[in-house]
This record gives sequence, C-alpha cells and structure tokens, in this order.
Amino acid sequence: MAVHVVDHPLVRHKLGILREAGLSTSGFRNLALEISRLLTYEATKDLVTEPKTIKGWAGDVEVEMIKGKKITVVPILRAGLGMMDGVLDMVPGARVSVVGFYRDEETLQPVEYYVKLARNIDERIALILDPMLATGGTLLATIELLKKAGCTNIKGLFLVAAPEGIEKVVTAHPDVDIYTASIDEKLNEAGYILPGLGDAGDKIFGTK
Ligand code: URA
Repeated sequence: MAVHVVDHPLVRHKLGILREAGLSTSGFRNLALEISRLLTYEATKDLVTEPKTIKGWAGDVEVEMIKGKKITVVPILRAGLGMMDGVLDMVPGARVSVVGFYRDEETLQPVEYYVKLARNIDERIALILDPMLATGGTLLATIELLKKAGCTNIKGLFLVAAPEGIEKVVTAHPDVDIYTASIDEKLNEAGYILPGLGDAGDKIFGTK
C-alpha cells in the first residue's frame, strides 16, 4: 500500500479555494471535479501501455494504447458522485459501480443499502471515490465488498484525508493505494476532518 499526496501546485491552489467557507455550490462542485481529474492523472500513472499500429494522416503510425485491465469507478453515495464526472473525463471508457451505506445507530457500523457493481468487476481496476477519508469505516466496508466480488487492484481517491482514516486502511488493507490532495490534521469529536472542507456531500448537492 502506498499513500500518495498529490502535491501539485494546481491541486494545492484549487484545494485552497475549496476550503473557503463562502464558496458557492457551483464553485465547490467545479473545483471538486477539477481536483478529481488531477487525482486520476496520478492514480493511473502505473497503467501499462502497448504498441499499436494505426492509420495516421500520412500513413501507418505506431502509437501506444492502454493494455489489458479495464477500470471501474466506485463512487460511494452520495458525496462520491461529486468526483465521478471528473474521473470519467479522464477515463471515459470506465464502468461505474455504485455503493451506498448507512450507519447503524446501535452498532455504529456501516450497513449496505445500495450496491450495483459493473460486470466482470474482478477483471477491473477499482477506483473508489469519496471526497473525505475521515474515520475510514465506509471505506473499509467498500474495500471488503469489492474484495468479496473478486477485485485485486483497488485504489481510493479522496480530496482530503484524515491521518486516523489512513491509519485504519493501511493496517487492514496494505495492498490498497490511496490518492489524496491533502492529509489534514485530525478528526474532531463529531468525525469531521480539521481543517477539512465541512460536509462535502452538502456542499456538492447544495443541501445546506
Ligand atoms: N464527511 C464529510 O463530508 N466531511 C468530513 O469532514 C468528514 C466526513
């Protein structure tokens, strides 16, 4: 497992604006998509290409195309949907596998309420999308669900991550790669990341 902080000046700049309390819903949405594109660029760096001969304007040209494994993006409902189109801009052929969890009030454990996985998911690279890696509970449940479905190549893309959540995932699933624009300071008592972004779902959907 590796934790990749995508420390590009464009990412730092866009994340800086994203943290502003007065940012509009459309501003938040657009920046979340832009950062998601840049995270995807990093998360797909190890894709293997193969040579292919195509007909170019002046005759045959040898080009490179991505080889083998296909991708599924896995947005976690609902906030993960706010990253999805940014990722699909970069990998338009990817299939979408959607997962949704609610928190059981007694056990505090995530419980599945919606799962629709792409066909042949066991042959695909899975890119899990969630703007916030906070406690890591939902992420662990998603990884377990994907592994049960046969996935062997899983990566998670997050706008912001908390050290506590990263630690949990590193310990339980050392084979899963994490890509984030920032590792923030800590979680507060309510499980929000500090300094964080606030409630990313509410900001993306304009529900606050
Ligand atoms: N979910 C959010 O939307 N924000 C946080 O800070 C933590 C979890």
